[in-house]
This record gives sequence, C-alpha cells and structure tokens, in this order.
Amino acid sequence: MTWRVVLFVLLVSHLIIQFGMCQKVEPDPKTKAEKRNGKSKSGKGSEKTSASKTKVKTTPETPKEAQTYLTQVVNKGRFQKVADTLTVRAGETLELRCKGNPVQWAVPAYLEEDDEGRLRTVQHERYGTLILVNTTAADTGEFTCYPMYCEDKDCRKQYDKSVKVYIFFSDPQELFVPSADYYEVIQLRTNWPTVLPCQVTSPQAKVSLHQEFPPMEVNVDGREISFDVKKGFTIHRPKQYHAGSLYCEASLGNLRQSSTKYMLIYVNYPAAPPFPAIQASSDTVAVGHNLQVTCTVIGEQDVLVDFTWEYPGQKIGRPLHTLDNVQTVQVDGQNRQRTQITLLVDEVREVDHGTYTCTAQNLQGSRSASTTVKVQSAQTTTKPKKP
Ligand SMILES: *[C@@H]1O[C@H](CO)[C@@H](O)[C@H](O)[C@H]1NC(C)=O
Repeated sequence: MTWRVVLFVLLVSHLIIQFGMCQKVEPDPKTKAEKRNGKSKSGKGSEKTSASKTKVKTTPETPKEAQTYLTQVVNKGRFQKVADTLTVRAGETLELRCKGNPVQWAVPAYLEEDDEGRLRTVQHERYGTLILVNTTAADTGEFTCYPMYCEDKDCRKQYDKSVKVYIFFSDPQELFVPSADYYEVIQLRTNWPTVLPCQVTSPQAKVSLHQEFPPMEVNVDGREISFDVKKGFTIHRPKQYHAGSLYCEASLGNLRQSSTKYMLIYVNYPAAPPFPAIQASSDTVAVGHNLQVTCTVIGEQDVLVDFTWEYPGQKIGRPLHTLDNVQTVQVDGQNRQRTQITLLVDEVREVDHGTYTCTAQNLQGSRSASTTVKVQSAQTTTKPKKP
C-alpha cells in the first residue's frame, strides 16, 4: 500500500516539475547518462577526456578524401571495416580508427559524462583512434567520427563526411542497457512520437512490450507502435489509452529479462502556440480614472495558458494586479477554451500612458499582443471647448 502512495507523490511532483519547466520537455541526455550510471554529478567542471574535447591538432590543409570510414582494430594489427552496427563483448576493449587529421569523436552521452578514464582518443598523422577499455553494457550506443576541416586554427566538423556506428556491448547477464531507476516517467504528448528507450545490449535479443495493469502484451504493429533495436519502442501518435505502466521484455537463449518500468503520462499537448488578442477598456483615459486591459486566448480545451504583462506603470513600480477567467465557449459549433486575463490599472496617472503588451504561452510557444493607451492629464480634460 505505502509504495503506491509514495509513487503517487512522486508522479505528482514530477508532473509539477514538468509543467513548471513548460518548454523543456525532451529528456536531457545528461540526465539519462547520470541515470545509467546511478550517480548524479552536479557541476560541469569535472570533464577530462570526453571525446568531444579531443585535442584538435590543426594542419594548414586537410586532404580531401572522397569517403570516410571506420575500422575496428580487432587483434594487434588486424583491422576490420565496420558496418552501421557492431557487437563487442562487454569487458573487452574497443578500438576504432577513423581516417582524417584531425578527427573528432562523439560518444554516447553516458560515456561523455563519466568515462572514469576508460575512454582515450589519440590523433595520428593520418587517422584518429578511440580506445575504450573495461567496456560495460551501459556503453551501448552510437559512436561517431567527424573528420575536421581546418583553416589555420579554425576547425569545423564536416558533417557530410561523418561516420557513425552503433555499438552493442553484449553482456550475457544484462539484456537491457542498465538503468539505475526502478521506473522512468515519460510524457505522452498528443501527436508527438514517444520513445520507450529500452535499448538492448544484443541485436539478437527478442523484445516485446508489456502493460502492467492488467498484465498483457502490447501489440506492436510497426505503425502505431514500432520497435528499433537501437532506440526501443516508439509510440507514433500517442493517445490517452496509451497511458499507464509499461515495460519491455527481452529474451535471448534461456535468459529472459524485464526492463525498467515506464510510467506513461498523457499530456494534452496543444497543436499550436496561443494567439492572444488585447483590448483596453478605452484608448484614452483621464488621470484618476480606472483602466482595464484584457488579453484573450481562444484555444484547445484543457491546455494551460500562462500570461505575462509589460506595461508602462512597471517603471514606477505599479504592482501587477490581474483577474482571470477560463470558460468553455462554442466556436463554429466546437467547444473551445477561452482564457481571459484582465490587467487592472486603478487611478491612472500620466506614467501609465503607453504600450501594454500581454504574452501568452503554452507548451508549444508564446505570442504577444500590444495596444497603446493615451492618458489625458487633468488639464487637458478640463480644457475649454473651442468657441
Ligand atoms: C580496467 O580493469 C582492470 C581490472 O579490473 C583495472 O585494473 C584497470 O584499472 C581498469 N582500467 C581502467 C582505465 O579503468
């Protein structure tokens, strides 16, 4: 019983964090890396031999090669050209060579973050090498070599010449790339593909997708849900009914293992940013009178819209005083949500003259609308009419 309560609290707090972050919805690869590692490192000051920071030797001219390729150094002095995937037994040493001077390497985020001195890159005259020792199943992922183009000290990656290889570090005890978490919370957003990243350590493993309550295997038809041995399962157009607790199961030989659990939470994700309309109670107000500026957004239902204001009185520290109202309205026979926020400017002063801007934001982005309000000083209002 208690763990359910704990889980619920965790889910709710996670949701709050997710909403709070608004735009930031993609998982940070570094966070993932930390999870794999089971450690969380704070601060960024501890990187040393991370591959992307390879010493870049500059040579005045880079010979233009038609094709880049990667080779794996198998035994001493034996090379093997690698295809787009490669399987290395966990524990063994990986050594890759990539033609070019200089070259830069990109490695799975987990390794980049914390390789514990297991990763080394060396630049030779005609090629660069990457050596990874004491490999583990967690090192599984994509390794990329970028030949660099240099002009004097200024080098840039030649993306068109990059070569990638996805490397499985197979471990007879670990069919899934390990994760330190018992479960992972994943947002399902309307019409946005969602990935359940249960990556396997062997391309031969048979992988299936399962729902926890009620227990059953989820049908993977390749269209609504598909599987990629390098990525995991993708739900292409998430719907409310995909929400719940899911996990992957892998089998190879007589070994059968379950992945981390994925808590899929459905979020009604807006199709577009909000389009606010702004209107002042009057274009011209006399000093001492009250002014209201209303910002209105009509959009999809159950989508949260946040508003921020910019107004002339901010300069003199006029506090932000607003009223809001959310209603369901009918637009072209459809239920829409009308969110309205009114900025109250009491006892207008001359400094309140100027441009009022409201910015509305939802998970898709933000848009602003402005209007200008004139303030008439007491003098002008009592100006006698022309004879
Ligand atoms: C690799 O593992 C061996 C044996 O456990 C250990 O002695 C060595 O220090 C490790 N090397 C690195 C770079 O972690």
